[in-house]
Amino acid sequence: MATLRTDPGQHRRVPPLRSVVVGTGSSLPARVVTNADLAERVDTSDEWIVQRTGIRQRHLAGPDETTSVLGTRAARAALDDAGLTADDIDLVICATSTPDHTFPATATQIQAALGIHQGAAFDLQAVCAGFVFAVSTADKFLTTGAARRALVIGAETFSRIVDWEDRTTCVLFGDGAGAVVLEAQEGAGDRGVLSASLRSDGRHREKLYVDGGPGSTGTTGHLRMEGRDVFRFAVGQVTDVIVEAFAQAGITAEELDWFVPHQANRRIIEASADKLGVARDKIVLTVDRHGNTSAASIPLALDVARRDGRIRAGDLVMIEAIGGGFSWGAALIRW
Ligand code: ACO
Repeated sequence: MATLRTDPGQHRRVPPLRSVVVGTGSSLPARVVTNADLAERVDTSDEWIVQRTGIRQRHLAGPDETTSVLGTRAARAALDDAGLTADDIDLVICATSTPDHTFPATATQIQAALGIHQGAAFDLQAVCAGFVFAVSTADKFLTTGAARRALVIGAETFSRIVDWEDRTTCVLFGDGAGAVVLEAQEGAGDRGVLSASLRSDGRHREKLYVDGGPGSTGTTGHLRMEGRDVFRFAVGQVTDVIVEAFAQAGITAEELDWFVPHQANRRIIEASADKLGVARDKIVLTVDRHGNTSAASIPLALDVARRDGRIRAGDLVMIEAIGGGFSWGAALIRW
């Protein structure tokens, strides 16, 4: 439990600041590509993709739908949902591995598109774990008083870095964006971001990476993955951050209302939930409709589950993800 802060001016004890979710939003490109559509392009089948991954379709961005365009739409929806305007936001973090450009940060493009002219905006790169890393980072700004309200966005156009000739990877990914507004609140009780645990281990680079970049090849490159090894690591290792996040908050898995994991693969998600003792009906699953949208998958799923009435005020929600690096993390949020 957080301890009381000391107000520097008054020398009195004041309640701790908590980062509370006050709005969510998301955006998906209009174009839907089914497994059958992909089977016309590479040697695959709907049966193989559904059986191995649970994916049935994904949304793919059109030429004008860049990461910042999708991110801006999601962020605007989150602002509307929160009943806030551009003037209310003083921090924009965009988790992405598919920025519009090498620089400036996509977050600054979203900031400009929304008409936010104060505060800071930056990108955060932890691949599929990016949104969890971004929530944890924003929480540090908000609970120390360094910012008042943050737009935390996950936005991706993985269709731009997928090798469309490689059936082992191209069937897995989709495009989209999701966003939450986090607000620093005093006296939020037990609401807000309760805990977060982040890990990275760069020794696993070869398992999941992009074979290009501005500092190496001068090209964007394509996604490469040893699927079986990633699968093994995801199920075998990633639960350490979840256990740590529960321990930090003094909460057990049985108390969880919703488990909102990174949507990479239905089999990984269900195996992780089983390992943790989280009931299957507490899993929010969108991978069937969205595919793997990397850093966007968790905020997209959060927005779906909140708007369809599953996630309600007071619910305890666990978000967790693993991505390239490897980097992985988990956070507990009381809605
Ligand atoms: N359609 C048909 N057959 C295929 C396809 C396809 N799209 N892709 C591979 N195959 C074939 C393979 O060639 C192989 O054939 P073979 O036995 O004749 O050699 C066979 O299917 C089995 O291949 P595996 O790789 O063993 O299949 P597996 O059951 O491991 O499933 C998958 C592959 C879905 C990629 C799985 O390993 C997986 O989900 N891994 C984790 C990926 C992931 O979660 N990534 C998340 C992180 S992403 C990020 O951070 C950006």
